[in-house]
Amino acid sequence: MIANHAMVSSAHPLATSIGLDIMRNGGNAIDAAIATHFALAVVYPQAGNVGGGGFAVIRMNDGTINSLDFREKAPALAHRDMFLNAEGQLYDLRSTHGHMASGVPGAVDGMFALHQKYGTLTMAELIEPSVEISLRGYALTPLAAEILNTNQKEFQTYNRWSTPYHSDQIWEAGDTIRQPDLAKTLKHIQTNGRNGFYDGIVADQIVAEMQSGNGLISHADLKNYQSVWRKPISGNYRGHQIISMAPPSSGGIALLQLLQGTEGYPIADWGHNSTKTIHLMSELERRVYADRALYLGDPDFVKVPIKQLLKPSYNQRRFADISFDVVTPSERVSAGEIPPSESPETTHLSVVDSNGNAVAITTTLNSSFGNKVMVKGAGFFLNNEMDDFSSKPGSPNQFGLIGGEANAILPHKRMLSSMTPTIVTYKDQLKMVVGTPGGSTIITSVYQTLLNVIDHGMGMQEAVNAKRVHHQWYPDEVRVETGALTENVQTDLEQLGHQLRITDKIGRMDCILVLPDGRLEGGADPRGDNTALGY
Ligand code: GLY
Repeated sequence: MIANHAMVSSAHPLATSIGLDIMRNGGNAIDAAIATHFALAVVYPQAGNVGGGGFAVIRMNDGTINSLDFREKAPALAHRDMFLNAEGQLYDLRSTHGHMASGVPGAVDGMFALHQKYGTLTMAELIEPSVEISLRGYALTPLAAEILNTNQKEFQTYNRWSTPYHSDQIWEAGDTIRQPDLAKTLKHIQTNGRNGFYDGIVADQIVAEMQSGNGLISHADLKNYQSVWRKPISGNYRGHQIISMAPPSSGGIALLQLLQGTEGYPIADWGHNSTKTIHLMSELERRVYADRALYLGDPDFVKVPIKQLLKPSYNQRRFADISFDVVTPSERVSAGEIPPSESPETTHLSVVDSNGNAVAITTTLNSSFGNKVMVKGAGFFLNNEMDDFSSKPGSPNQFGLIGGEANAILPHKRMLSSMTPTIVTYKDQLKMVVGTPGGSTIITSVYQTLLNVIDHGMGMQEAVNAKRVHHQWYPDEVRVETGALTENVQTDLEQLGHQLRITDKIGRMDCILVLPDGRLEGGADPRGDNTALGY
């Protein structure tokens, strides 16, 4: 998709077209992103949300950059050992399924904070299309029908009532989903602003839902939730400025460490997905994810050594023992001296408006449909973000990520994330807006997409389509998308000592590239229903 002026790329065609209409009607990129975010809560319920949280990275056309943390927070009653039994072992599923798994949602506060600083249309105008689709209904795509069918058993297990997603029949493409309760919630937000969610009827519904299942979120937790403006993480790669998310997301720091480790090598000459390129990326990744596990957490609670981790001299030392003749087993890698995985069901949206303002938002319920609990009467799913804490330091979470003390559970603390909404400039001009879902694979998918454009000379759609690989320290394996590697490269990597695990799909990117002539090229991932549209 190529457009002359403005573009939106998101996980669903309806959400994308709603965002684009907002810009056609005079809204800016932030207005469009807010409208797309609310629309995803309606048409992409596995990750689009009002019951979750996320991060936004912004670059306005005057060059100013900013980022918003609207990540969920642990409820006041949360405690370090809440997911451990009397023997100190992790309870099965408590951190991922059901009421206790939810952190205090940040998405609605986040959308209002973004709007207050940058919005130009009214919030009522930005939410109205989502109210309309909730009432009118939307048609399931084949993939959406398949996902709903796969989740039926869990919807029935974790809900005391029949949600709009329950069906005694098999969902088919083209079936219509109507959500009158969600429409009511959106109208409360339209009428009462932020308090329409964090106070009043919707807050009462959330707290009643919590009380029905040992959940911890209270009225006070909801009232007190506040998103936080944070200084973005920024750095350089081959003359480009990379602007990404700071802790409590690990994304920006890990991405810049990976890029620093790559810059000294001629990977363009080595080739995309060649043995040498994959070997280098995997060796860098196992070291960077080990640093993530030890050092990264909520900066409001732990001292995160951001400057040290981003120092070129630190990373030179950190990566100095990489050999091109042999793999370094992960058991021999620990954090450097001085950063687990995320569900594929997060979602990302990228927007550029006709004035060159850009926004990248990654937002999530964590797992597909979050904790699987829909708030009775309010019509939205709650997140299961508590699993992104390290419930038992040293034990892997649902994505196999290992975490440490820095990411232990504490009341009001934010759980560590891998979300990596990223904006790239070149010679002070906007060049790319990038991001994806995919749990722990988010960081490495964004990393590869940047390399695909900057080093391998691909266009945006080609860079998004390209097959991906992933390493995260533990498990000590290279995840390889089916078809990513030739047989020869697989054999060579195995001979070097890499354990390869072939996997179906990694990531669902939504990206925008500014072409040399100023037009915009969208990259919407064919792995999902992702759609880029522009004018
Ligand atoms: N929920 C996955 C992440 O934030 O990384």
